[in-house]
Amino acid sequence: MPWVVRDAVDEINRAVGRRWQGLDRLLPPTAELPEGCAAPFVTTGANGRPAGLAACRHEHVPAGTLHQTWGTAHRFSLIARLREADTSAALDDLLRQWRDHLAGLPGTGADDTAAMITWPARDVSGVNTLLRHALQPITVIAVRPARPEPAGLGPAGPEPGPAGDASMVIREAGPADLDAVTELEMGVIRYDALFGSAILRSATEELVRAETQAALAVRPVWAWLAERDGEPAGLVNVQPPGQSRWIAGMTRAGVTVYLQTMFVRPGERGRGVGAALVRHAHAVLGARGVDTTLLHYAQMNPLSAPFWNRMGYRPLWTGWEVRPSASLR
Ligand SMILES: CC(C)(COP(=O)(O)OP(=O)(O)OC[C@H]1O[C@@H](n2cnc3c(N)ncnc32)[C@H](O)[C@@H]1OP(=O)(O)O)[C@@H](O)C(=O)NCCC(=O)NCCS
Repeated sequence: MPWVVRDAVDEINRAVGRRWQGLDRLLPPTAELPEGCAAPFVTTGANGRPAGLAACRHEHVPAGTLHQTWGTAHRFSLIARLREADTSAALDDLLRQWRDHLAGLPGTGADDTAAMITWPARDVSGVNTLLRHALQPITVIAVRPARPEPAGLGPAGPEPGPAGDASMVIREAGPADLDAVTELEMGVIRYDALFGSAILRSATEELVRAETQAALAVRPVWAWLAERDGEPAGLVNVQPPGQSRWIAGMTRAGVTVYLQTMFVRPGERGRGVGAALVRHAHAVLGARGVDTTLLHYAQMNPLSAPFWNRMGYRPLWTGWEVRPSASLR
């Protein structure tokens, strides 16, 4: 990268890091622009200086990986860094450049492709521009700090509730629970597939089973089952800090874990099972020194947003997509 562009990148990264901290203290403190498929797109402000930069990254997700269940097989992502509080004009310019770039690439009109952008949830100045370019909000990355945020910045954690009913037990999941945990994991994938945030593949169930088998062998345990009268009623499954590194950079520094699965069987919902599981998991995570928990939910899932809000989570990032990728306007 020429030094003039490198200087602009460093300067914008620093400015964006400061702007993000003003918007949301749980965003990462720095905003590094990663290497893209070519030189970054540049948009110029009224003063003639770069007002924003963006990198395009191409990801081809192999069949036979669980990663392909969580999105399209071919993903084109824009990572945008915009310095002004009102991002709309600069974002519009970068999206136009990106659209023209994608239009010139082979295969971007094919099924199983997406153009994607992950946008800070509180940076509301960009929302209308994203919509105008045909992007749709598909997923939310939600965050819960182990210690409540200062008043006015977000919901506090839930109040301790009354003790659960005696027929329900919460216990660690172990290797003998492979069938039950696989089925509950598949329950949430099937449900998320209704909202476009998961895509069921022919290999999904087999891959979930293999991943579950590995997760249940880990000690200490990071997955818990709720059982009513000895029958599995719900599951919460957390990736330990070492396995959560893939997403930990989306928030502040500290010990971060990713809450991978939360599922309560349909007939058991609305009776406090989910809350009891999450409260239990939070207590253990707190004791293990976890500072921040992240999770995904589908924007259109009618059950998850109110539930996670009650559990102390709130939106941090929104995942916007258009499928196929050449449909970006
Ligand atoms: C989301 C889910 C786990 C909630 O489990 P649940 O056992 O029904 O939740 P609970 O009964 O423990 O509810 C806990 C709190 O959330 C509230 N809540 C739960 N679902 C709600 C909904 N759809 N609308 C409004 N509030 C809701 C409850 O009223 C309760 O609040 P309270 O503390 O004020 O009483 C369950 O609906 C589910 O498995 N859904 C399908 C899979 C899914 O969406 N998983 C999450 C994907 S990220």
